[in-house]
Amino acid sequence: MNTILVTGGAGFIGSNFIRYALEDAGFKGRLVNLDKLTYAGNPENLSDMQKKYKGRYVFVKGDICDFKLLERLFKKHRFDAVVHFAAESHVDRSIFGPKDFIETNIHGTFALLETARQAWAGRKDVRFHHVSTDEVYGSLGRTGKFKETTPYDPRSPYSASKASSDHLVMAYHHTYGLPVTISNCSNNYGPYHFPEKLIPLVILNALEGKPLPVYGDGLQVRDWLYVGDHCAAIWRVLRKGRTGQTYNVGGASEKYNIDVVKGICAALERQAPSAANPALKGKKYLQLITYVKDRPGHDRRYAIDFSKLRRELGWRPSVTFKEGLERTVAWYLANPAWVKNVKSGEYRKWLNKNYRR
Ligand SMILES: NC(=O)c1ccc[n+]([C@@H]2O[C@H](COP(=O)([O-])OP(=O)(O)OC[C@H]3O[C@@H](n4cnc5c(N)ncnc54)[C@H](O)[C@@H]3O)[C@@H](O)[C@H]2O)c1
Repeated sequence: MNTILVTGGAGFIGSNFIRYALEDAGFKGRLVNLDKLTYAGNPENLSDMQKKYKGRYVFVKGDICDFKLLERLFKKHRFDAVVHFAAESHVDRSIFGPKDFIETNIHGTFALLETARQAWAGRKDVRFHHVSTDEVYGSLGRTGKFKETTPYDPRSPYSASKASSDHLVMAYHHTYGLPVTISNCSNNYGPYHFPEKLIPLVILNALEGKPLPVYGDGLQVRDWLYVGDHCAAIWRVLRKGRTGQTYNVGGASEKYNIDVVKGICAALERQAPSAANPALKGKKYLQLITYVKDRPGHDRRYAIDFSKLRRELGWRPSVTFKEGLERTVAWYLANPAWVKNVKSGEYRKWLNKNYRR
């Protein structure tokens, strides 16, 4: 592989993946990052990579729905692989307004597939990897785990749009022979995570002495994976995965939401004790926990069976949840300028319009 197109590389997982490919996996070719820079995209996530890998890391601002742009990029760079992260990714937002989710997640994936199919006609040495979520499988009861063979049963506009894109990707494989792989992963956390998602939201609210919102009874179960482990899994599937296959990726780390919030409070007490934080006004971080009305259609439990990825490609998570949380809290404490920046601009406007908090 000489040249890879990464879509959505200015977002949370995409930027971690580009860093992983260039720094950890030792990729020696060129990476082109195509990102529209929505509220969730931030080129600052990779400003050091831009300097260090000048010429080998290229940023292009643009929309994956733009056929003309895609054609131009495929012609110019002669990509050998696509790693497709670009998406609208926040479930709450998909409930407020599903349109962008349908546009980017479905139409955008279609535009990429169609462009790749035409540009790669006759080539077998290429790969289209689609990054997806375990939310496509719906919700579990108390027991059981999602397998690659679990029927799709998406419940939110977000998961329905991702399910739809997964089907399109597989259809391009079966219909046109496009060499594709898909990975369906559980909840990620770690550095550069946009602060509207649970873990960074709780860290930052806690530091400011604000309520820590927990939906419903807090007993929804999610599996958590440190983002670096997800990037390693994607890299492995990209290099060694069998085409036409789906691989589940998980952290073997199922937690109640309320325990995640309590875990963050404990990590914060160790690294930035509440007693020394004037915003807490004498309270402990734990005392900020506030139960709020549940999200409509809130899936109860997700758990993921990633034995296929372990068996076929030898991948397993390397960071425990406790260690990952400590690292994540440390990263947010060390990067207040990044936080300030991403919470301003478009994001602030959207919050004011939709939440009026
Ligand atoms: N975050 C998770 O826990 C998780 C878990 C499993 C799978 N995923 C999947 O991984 C991918 C990345 O998730 P994330 O959490 O990094 O998301 P994110 O919201 O942090 O980043 C998405 C990126 O895509 C870009 N983008 C959005 N619309 C675009 C468009 N039309 N054209 C070009 N770029 C566009 C944004 O600017 C942003 O940089 C998504 O496909 C998501 O469904 C995420």
